[in-house]
Amino acid sequence: MADTTVMEKLVSLCKRRGFVFQSSEIYGGLGSVWDYGPLGVELKKNVKDRWWRAMVHARDDIEGLDAAILMHPRVWEASGHVAGFTDPLVDCKQCKNRFRGDDPRIKGTPGEPDAQCPVCGTKGSLTAPRLFNLMFKTFMGPVEEQAAVVYLRPETAQGIYVNYQNVLNASRQKVPFGIAQIGKAFRNEITPGNFIFRTREFEQMEMQFFVAPETAGEWFERWREWRMEWHKDLGLAPARLRWHQHGPTELAHYAKAAFDIEYEFPFGWQEIEGIHNRGDYDLTRHQEYSGKKLDYFDQAANRRFVPFIVETSAGADRVALTTLVDAYREETVEGETRVVLGFHPSIAPIKAAVLPLVKKDGMPEVAERLYHDLRAAFPCFYDDSGAIGRRYRRMDEAGTPFCVTVDGETLNDGQVTVRDRDSMQQVRVAQAQVGAYIRERIS
Ligand code: GAP
Repeated sequence: MADTTVMEKLVSLCKRRGFVFQSSEIYGGLGSVWDYGPLGVELKKNVKDRWWRAMVHARDDIEGLDAAILMHPRVWEASGHVAGFTDPLVDCKQCKNRFRGDDPRIKGTPGEPDAQCPVCGTKGSLTAPRLFNLMFKTFMGPVEEQAAVVYLRPETAQGIYVNYQNVLNASRQKVPFGIAQIGKAFRNEITPGNFIFRTREFEQMEMQFFVAPETAGEWFERWREWRMEWHKDLGLAPARLRWHQHGPTELAHYAKAAFDIEYEFPFGWQEIEGIHNRGDYDLTRHQEYSGKKLDYFDQAANRRFVPFIVETSAGADRVALTTLVDAYREETVEGETRVVLGFHPSIAPIKAAVLPLVKKDGMPEVAERLYHDLRAAFPCFYDDSGAIGRRYRRMDEAGTPFCVTVDGETLNDGQVTVRDRDSMQQVRVAQAQVGAYIRERIS
């Protein structure tokens, strides 16, 4: 199967089964903005819940935060985004297409007569690159003037830095400690695409870890290891995960060192998370721009310093896409194609489907009762329409790890059939035990 075909099939499955829809579709859609349907919202929520559990609930040294999307405009001057969060933009005067200036498909130097448009092939039609700021602007209050400009945040990290002292004062933390947050970010990307991989509105799962300067290198290495483990624990194939170290020309303006965790998508190896040693750049800049002291007094060592920051920054949408790509497979079963989303059970949107074999002989009544019992413990689905084989296939496509079938025998022996999505093997389990049986396997 060609790689592009896999993405096309996945996008179509996502729409058909209610994972992801194009935003404002009935109006023709809005470029690179997507909506999550009933199954997609569960999948993304499960990814975010796992991140929150690993980063906040399972640790004593990280606190949670939910900062506002709109922030004081000076924040973005201090962070360097007003001056530096830009991409070079090139227009083709002939076909009117737009490109990033560093688009590898462009032959020659944009702005020069030899440069060739990668879409229409015209020579000399590309403008010289001009810098384009990726932040979305809007106005606060009724007057649309420069003084009222505010930005939709392009990263959640700044909400953490400006709250660093609030959290420190309100909690019992001491450096080293971290602050974690999940929230929306917005970037007016020039070349978004690849479905929900690069979008203009997305969610980030970011954690900023504040450390003594001389320990930043050690913490950076620790966080690299922990974050890679987290992705593997999501069930992603280890062979499709790798590290990419940023070279000197790739490093962001704030970073002393940076590594990306990359995944091998059908469209190539791409970043899903960045781990950055940001040094004291952020707190020093906010100190300078706000005029407020943001240093830390280490009582034990009797010294003051501006903490260094080790950041872990993952995209929730990108990780959700990664789980979809990683889970997608096609198999031939008895001469027919079976499409399966083999999610790790902990992130599967629906954990179990309850299916009466036929819609008669008391089976629907027993199945409905069981469904109501089970859904109190985890998300379930009830389906009594169509042949049992077709119902299994629908659940395979939705990534549901277990199907529980109530059949004629259930009424005699009190047992149900539990079918495993991956092996398709079926076992008989006592009705009273089926909740515990599934819970044990999805935890
Ligand atoms: N605070 C650091 C920061 O924002 P980044 O490398 O620009 O670093 C971090 O972004 C992560 O956010 C990326 O690894 C990616 O998962 C996600 N991300 C960034 N831009 C995105 C976009 N346009 N669409 C979807 N996810 C995006």
